[in-house]
Amino acid sequence: MAVETGYFTEKDSAEVVAGRISEDTDPRLRQIMTVLVKHMHAAVKELELTEEEWFEGIKFLTETGHKCDEWRQEFILLSDVLGVSMLVDAINNRKPSGASESTVLGPFHVADAPELEMGSDICLDQKGEPMLVEGRILDTRGNPVDGAKLDVWQANDEGFYDVQQKGIQPDFNLRGVFRTSADGTYWFKGVKPKYYPIPGDGPVGRMLAALGRHCYRPAHLHYIISAEGYKSLTTHIFDPDDPYIHSDAVFGVKESLMARFDWIEDPASMEARGMTTPFYHVIHDFVLVPA
Ligand code: BEZ
Ligand code: FE
Repeated sequence: MAVETGYFTEKDSAEVVAGRISEDTDPRLRQIMTVLVKHMHAAVKELELTEEEWFEGIKFLTETGHKCDEWRQEFILLSDVLGVSMLVDAINNRKPSGASESTVLGPFHVADAPELEMGSDICLDQKGEPMLVEGRILDTRGNPVDGAKLDVWQANDEGFYDVQQKGIQPDFNLRGVFRTSADGTYWFKGVKPKYYPIPGDGPVGRMLAALGRHCYRPAHLHYIISAEGYKSLTTHIFDPDDPYIHSDAVFGVKESLMARFDWIEDPASMEARGMTTPFYHVIHDFVLVPA
């Protein structure tokens, strides 16, 4: 049975609405809705929202919904640019010191990327500046993790993922799944990533423009690293010299996720790494926590 606490008044609005929630409602749902109503009503009161402003908000949310389809999730994008995605990530992925930190998944992960031999080149169209990425997957005591699965993906040198350029980039361009052996090392080739705009042709892009915010993410590589007995890690590594490193549109940058991108062009160093052309050398280790 719903608990009615009286008629709706400006003063008691939140309590009256929350009071209608039935006592036998799932307790977590009841808590979530009570807190949401409390804060929404407080915001409307603090702002003294006009009817026009309220309707602008309704139109914005309607358009956000209409922009969503199988490939586009404008509500997640909204959550990303408001910092809500990173806050949920932070709360749910608190790590002991020394463990690798997580960051946003983003909308461009593809579940069935091919499993490749360690060292493979994930760039299928030979466009961009060559890059060799390597490192180790370790546990919190510094021991290598055997059999860790690395699912990696990146945008091309023009800032687009393969799924954004179907028919222009080969399917599964700049994606791959790798598995470590007993020494925990990983290495693969790709191309130096570049900063890119998050999808800006919808209501979220318009909102950013209205707020005087840009829609760029600094250059990064995506990783999902999983291994039996360890908590799965969804993260990126970033280029610290990127022009947008201090103003990521989705707040995904963390100090510990900066990698180094060293340009290698002397023939001996190239040969030592099995590279035939100058390349960016990126080295980054990841530390997993027990499940
Ligand atoms: C990405 O890095 O792929 C991404 C993350 C959040 C929003 C848009 C793109
Ligand atoms: Fe990305």
